[in-house]
Formats: sequence, structure tokens, C-alpha cells
Amino acid sequence: MSLLRTVNPESPADPVGLTEPSAEPRPFASRWWRDAVIYQVYVRSFADSNGDGIGDLPGIRARLPHLARLGVDAVWLTPFYASPQADGGYDVADYRAVDPLFGTLDDAVQLIDSAHGLGLRVIVDVVPNHTSDQHEWFRAALAGGPERDLYHFRQGRGTDGELPPNDWESVFGGPAWTRVADGSWYLHLFAPQQPDLNWENPAVHAEFDSILRFWLDRGVDGFRVDVAHGMVKAAGMPDIGAREQAKMIGSQVLPFFDQDGVHAIHRGWRRLLDSYEGERIGVAEAWAPSPERLALYVRPDELHQAFNFQFLTCPWDATAMRAVVDASLAATGSVGAPTTWVLSNHDVVRHLTRYGADDYAKGLRRARAAALLMLALPGSTYLYQGEELGLPEVRDLPDEARQDPSFFRTDGQDGLRDGCRVPIPWEGDRAPYGFGSGGTGEDTGTGTDTGTSTGTGTDAGTGSGTGSWLPQPASWAGLSVAAQTGAEGSTLELYRTALARRKELPGLGDGGMEWRPSPAAGVLDFVRPGFRCLLNTGTEPVELPTPGRLLVTSADLAAEGGTLTLPADTCTWWAIP
Ligand code: GLC
Ligand code: CA
Repeated sequence: MSLLRTVNPESPADPVGLTEPSAEPRPFASRWWRDAVIYQVYVRSFADSNGDGIGDLPGIRARLPHLARLGVDAVWLTPFYASPQADGGYDVADYRAVDPLFGTLDDAVQLIDSAHGLGLRVIVDVVPNHTSDQHEWFRAALAGGPERDLYHFRQGRGTDGELPPNDWESVFGGPAWTRVADGSWYLHLFAPQQPDLNWENPAVHAEFDSILRFWLDRGVDGFRVDVAHGMVKAAGMPDIGAREQAKMIGSQVLPFFDQDGVHAIHRGWRRLLDSYEGERIGVAEAWAPSPERLALYVRPDELHQAFNFQFLTCPWDATAMRAVVDASLAATGSVGAPTTWVLSNHDVVRHLTRYGADDYAKGLRRARAAALLMLALPGSTYLYQGEELGLPEVRDLPDEARQDPSFFRTDGQDGLRDGCRVPIPWEGDRAPYGFGSGGTGEDTGTGTDTGTSTGTGTDAGTGSGTGSWLPQPASWAGLSVAAQTGAEGSTLELYRTALARRKELPGLGDGGMEWRPSPAAGVLDFVRPGFRCLLNTGTEPVELPTPGRLLVTSADLAAEGGTLTLPADTCTWWAIP
């Protein structure tokens, strides 16, 4: 019997990615976005250059070599624009300015240039559904100026207009309307500090065209369009007649989401993107009730990609996963667009924890297998920072550390978005683990840490001071980039190997796939040119004939004679004739 492992070729001398790799960057390919692996940087939590505990643009720039070495094609940066930070920067006060928290406009330009120098494209967020309440337009609107028409102001219901104009609820909880001094109400589908723009007003269109041009002129390769399904509201703003509307998002068309009118806006932006050289792209953050409705956002004259949240929300179950893969490929295929795959982002519980609940080891096994599945499927993949390290959700953040507005708007019931935003560990055995230079690095544990490197995420720590804006678990030392670099079987090396193989194999990335009959319940088996992928989602090992030459495996395998034993929660890649 032999034990099969994938061997990682190189153990770089600089484990945390502070020096540039010597290899020449790959030339940018045409239609690059159809199979790009795009890495989401949550700016506040990636790397802090000045020790104030908050990630920033110079910090990201210094760590770009980590991303180049990881092998991704592009970086998506979450909003770094001038903002009061009522919703992690998704409340923009000035779309053309960098918030001093994150750096300067010069820093942004240098970051874009450095990324390009390393062969990495750069996608930035654009937030068109709403501005900050501190945006000059909204301030002028509150002062009674004609800017009121750039937002949705209405009179309330009730004898004195003391009731909101309709029954719409904010995604973050509570009514979607807030009353102002003159007695009228304004619409905000998110926090009250995020008033919705009125896209019926041509000035809004003109302003966003100009904002897109501003960043395109500075070299960005595309935009992640925030709430791309939200800009147009149903005429007359009708009542919904039901509570808990946030739970209906993604399963039905609501009068404030996924209205047909949004597509004209995306068409206009596509024309604008196409007027620039170099295949600049738009990716829709759109919550649509079906793969078919989502595909409307990626018709040939609209955006290039849309996040596939059906895949993200799919449970760990082979039948359900296969159904989502088929539905996704069919829907995007019907309009000629590539499918995207994503497991985590800054708004959801990390997939390791979704798959494993309180069992870190189980979650990690599944997360590693899921990553290989996703990277083997046709299309483009989004990775969320830290998943390459096997980071779990941090579920025991102290209330006083939390920042997510949805936590405060819903009495803490839904405060789910801080636990995936904890700054990532780079090196060292004490918080902030090289995330920044701030903090004392002492007393970061609460005493429940076992000192192992299993990263259970149960110890949020109490004393990280200014080291990081959210406290990092004491158990994360073993999960840092430095700790995992060159370590056999580490999750970081698994991602590096898989991304390297993906580049070498012509059959991966864009193109087709074919299911093979499943050798056992819970097993997914598919082929692509020269390639076969086998995933066992079941709880028992499965025996089958060795399929070919092993390329990558998410867990050690046993092989004897011509028989392979594929363990539970394991995904494998094979080269086949
Ligand atoms: C998107 C963002 C989320 C933000 C919301 C409002 O869903 O991903 O973080 O809170 O839009 O802008
Ligand atoms: Ca900083």
C-alpha cells in the first residue's frame, strides 16, 4: 500500500510574500475574465502598514507578492473610498477620494500599478444603489435643495404622516424609511446612513458614468457592482404585505430588488467599459431568485460576470451540488457567459464553519475539498482572503468589538458579518501576527487556547489593543502564511499547488465538462479534457479503480494495486489520457 500525496514543488525563501517573485508575470490573456481566479481583499483586514490596527492600501501593496505567488489572476478590493464607515465603507461620501484610514489617491494608483507589474489585474467596488448620508448630495437634499430628487423622499402615512410610506424593510432589519426634520421620509434599503439613490434622475446616471471613468482612467480592470439588482424600484413603491422581507431575497422578485429596469443601467455601463482598451469588466453582486434571472445580468451586452450565490448557499451534499452546478452552467451557457464560483465573502459565515459547524477538522476537510471542486469547474472563481489559510469564522467576538450595522439593527440576532472580517495572520505567534505593527502582541489570549495549531476559532482574545480592529484568536498562530509556507499538507500549499496545476492544464478554466456515472452515493465524478475530478461528500470511504495520475488531493489517499480508496470529504484531481 502506498500513501499518495501531492508534492509541492517549491518552498519559497520569503514565506509571507514581502518580496517580488523573480518570475516574469504572465502576459494578460484575452478574455481573461472567463476563467480568472479573483481574490477578494477585504481592505480593512488584509494588511496594516502604519500600525493603527486597520488594513490599508500601502499594506496591501506590500503583500501583493503573496497573491502573485498564490497564483491568482486578479484582486478585488472592497471599498476604500471616503466614508464615515457606517457599513464598512459601503456608505460612500466621495467616490473619487480615498478614505484617510486607507491611504491616499496616490497610494491607490501605486497599488494598481504594482499589481499590474506582478501580472495581477485589479477590480474595485462601485456602490451605486446608495450613497452615505454624508455625501454632499444628501446633505444638500436635507437642506431642502433640488438634490432631494436624487434620492427617494416621500410623505408618510397616518394622520400626520407619522408612519413610513410603505412596508418595506431594510436588509439590516427595521423599516427601510427614516423620517427627517421636515416630516418627510427617505428610503434606505440598508442602514439609515445609506440613503438609496433615485436612478430615474439622469444626473445619477451621469455621475456614475463619470465615477467609473475616473477609476478606469487610473487603470482599474473592472468593477464589482454592489447591489447590482437594487437600483430600480417598482413604480408606485407598492407594499409587500409580509414581514421578514430579507429572507425573501434570492427566492422571489421584490418591488425593490431584481426589477427589470436595472438591466438598462448595466447595458450603459457595458458600453462604457467596452470603450476602454484591455477588457475591463463588470461583475454583478446580484441576488436573483433563480439562475435564469441571474443570467440576465450577464447577457452579451450587460456585465461580464455575476456572483453565483446559489453555489455559495448550497449544502455539503453531492446531489444538491451537482444540481447547482448544472443549473448554473445551463443558465450562463444560455447567454454565452462564463459561470462563476464562490464559497465565501465578507458578508457570509466562512464556508469552513458552515460545513463543519463546531468541528474545525471536519470543516477544514470539507473546505479543502470544496476548493478543489470549485477550481476544477468551468468558469471563473472568487476566493475570499483567508480561505487559503483555512481560517474559520470567529464566532465569539465580544459585543463591544463588533462593527456590523446589521448586528445593531437587529438586537444582535443577525450580527454575522464581523466574524469573517477578522484580520488575517501573516507570521509570528502572537496577535496581530504581522497584520500590522501595532499592539503589544501580549496578552492576546483568554486562556482557553490549547496552544495547538488547529485554529478552532473559539478564542477571540481580549487584549489585542490597537493591533487589529477586530481581535484575532490566539489559536491562529499555526494558520499564518509563514507557518503554512512549505509545510506539507498545509491548506496554503494546497491552494498554491491547485492554482499552479490549473494554469498548466489546458483542460481547466473555461470550457466544458461531463459528468460520469457516480461510482457511489455522495460521490461526484466528472471529466474535462485530460482531466478527471472525484469528490466524495459522503461519510464513508469509497473504493474505485485508480483513475490516472494524481495531480492534487485535498487529503492523503491510500492506493493498492489498481485500487484507490477515496476517503470521506475528499476531492482529488487526476490527469487522464
Ligand atoms: C453588499 C455588500 C455589503 C453591504 C451591502 C450594502 O451586499 O457586499 O457588505 O453591506 O451591499 O452596500
Ligand atoms: Ca492602517
